[in-house]
Amino acid sequence: MGGDHATADSPDLTGGVALSELPDGGMLAGHVGEEAVLLARRGEEVFAIGASCTHYGGPLAEGLLVDETVRCPWHHACFSLRTGEALRAPAFDPVPCWRVEQRDGRLFVREKLAPPARRPASAQPAAGVEPGRIVIVGGGAAGFAAAEMLRREGYAGSLTLLSAEDAAPYDRPNLSKDYLAGTASEDWIPLRPESFYAEQAIDLRLGATVAGIDPAGRRVVLAGSGGELPFDRLLLATGAEPVRPPIPGADGPQVRMLRSLRDSRALIEAAKAAQRAVLIGAGFIGLEVAASLRARGLVVHVVAPERLPLERVLGPELGALVRRLHEEQGVVFHLEEGVAAIEPGRVRLKGGGSLDAELVVLGTGVRPRTELAERAGLAVDHGVLVDEYLETSAPGIFAAGDIARWPDPHTGERLRIEHWVVAERQGQTAALNMLGGGGRARFTAAPFFWSRHYDTSIGYVGHAQRWDATEIEGDIGARDAVVRYRQGGQAPRGRDGRT
Ligand SMILES: Cc1cc2nc3c(=O)[nH]c(=O)nc-3n(C[C@H](O)[C@H](O)[C@H](O)COP(=O)(O)OP(=O)(O)OC[C@H]3O[C@@H](n4cnc5c(N)ncnc54)[C@H](O)[C@@H]3O)c2cc1C
Ligand code: FES
Repeated sequence: MGGDHATADSPDLTGGVALSELPDGGMLAGHVGEEAVLLARRGEEVFAIGASCTHYGGPLAEGLLVDETVRCPWHHACFSLRTGEALRAPAFDPVPCWRVEQRDGRLFVREKLAPPARRPASAQPAAGVEPGRIVIVGGGAAGFAAAEMLRREGYAGSLTLLSAEDAAPYDRPNLSKDYLAGTASEDWIPLRPESFYAEQAIDLRLGATVAGIDPAGRRVVLAGSGGELPFDRLLLATGAEPVRPPIPGADGPQVRMLRSLRDSRALIEAAKAAQRAVLIGAGFIGLEVAASLRARGLVVHVVAPERLPLERVLGPELGALVRRLHEEQGVVFHLEEGVAAIEPGRVRLKGGGSLDAELVVLGTGVRPRTELAERAGLAVDHGVLVDEYLETSAPGIFAAGDIARWPDPHTGERLRIEHWVVAERQGQTAALNMLGGGGRARFTAAPFFWSRHYDTSIGYVGHAQRWDATEIEGDIGARDAVVRYRQGGQAPRGRDGRT
């Protein structure tokens, strides 16, 4: 997962570099001892911070400098140049900072600075405004990011994180990638060690399923004998669940779906005992599963109704690339094809013929878990409706992540998007808004998504529901290109695909 980018041939920044080597708005990668350090200049000020992103170790020197921040090139985490703080997910840990001395037209990186203390008390909401009890339903991307941000902001009240799962919040995108392929060790998976929750006084309750919400009575009701929990502010972050299509045999014991760590572990066990797998559906997660099962040596067939994988989302050019990437690794596609039935040991195709398989994986989409919100009488329309502050129709109750449908200022449309970084950033924004106090924070982040297929990464920024033309810059065949999606010849307001 990346690593430190210190190289012996990068400049030793303690020895000094000429100021003229670092133009205004420029960045320079060097090192201090064994540590990779990034020098960045804003006007007359020069900053020195750790050069490796604390998410997966992306090289920050290849990222983007925006005002007093640097954005990681891999998954767009945002760090403060002044304090090193991870301002925006998917990174949560800060990077270190060093003192920079300017002397005789040269820059010298001196001692490492102490990490900044918690937010000063003045930044916290005034007493009486701060809610005493915050409850978060859902220990996934949005729920975790909200809890972490609440404590980072100095929130000192009671904080309960309820998760129906039996594992503390973890890196869900990894479940279909390195973890499933067997190349990520178990300790990469948790977002934080269990000790974090005790240290931060976050009452993390695992295996705790919320059965109902009473918005007027300000309480959540737990399933079983879990009792009730009162709240002043509530965040709903219940995510989405895979859809099981109405195919005869789709509930058979050899048929798997993938959403949770438990699912991924079960899939790994099933893969160990199988030689041939059929993936139904050619979406992002299904194709990542195909790649991981190939890495485990299984024969993999993909059956899907579309002409090209991911064409509806990424367009024909990138769809063709994705198909080629997988075919080069031995995946066999059955496109414009459907499944008539899943039987023990084989999958029967609608077009005739059958595929032998000991393992069948359904990659047939997800649906948002909106039942709690609906039963509580919150406004729900293809997702839980929230305003730009991520507050639902019930004051004091917020929603974030896969369930939330928010007014996106970039497209002027309401969006509901199933992306990891969107969910985490919405959790962070909802946290600020639950605290109340000073100015409220609008959710204005452009959606960002990434997917990995063997050694090729695809990232896209924005979200276009429709487009009628694509513009390609670079060489898709060489896997180094930017694709812009346009509508009516307009400059893209929507999505940029990048390989
Ligand atoms: C295998 C896989 C790979 C992915 N890869 C990528 C990727 O590469 N890039 C990307 O951008 N996105 C990816 N995604 C999508 C991304 O993981 C989701 O968009 C993101 O997790 C959504 O976050 P969330 O907080 O809304 O929901 P989740 O992370 O799903 O968390 C929801 C949590 O709520 C809990 N919950 C639900 N109902 C209740 C209840 N009643 N009571 C208590 N708890 C409840 C659930 O158990 C779960 O823990 C992937 C998803 C999967 C499954
Ligand atoms: S490695 Fe930097 S955001 Fe993922």
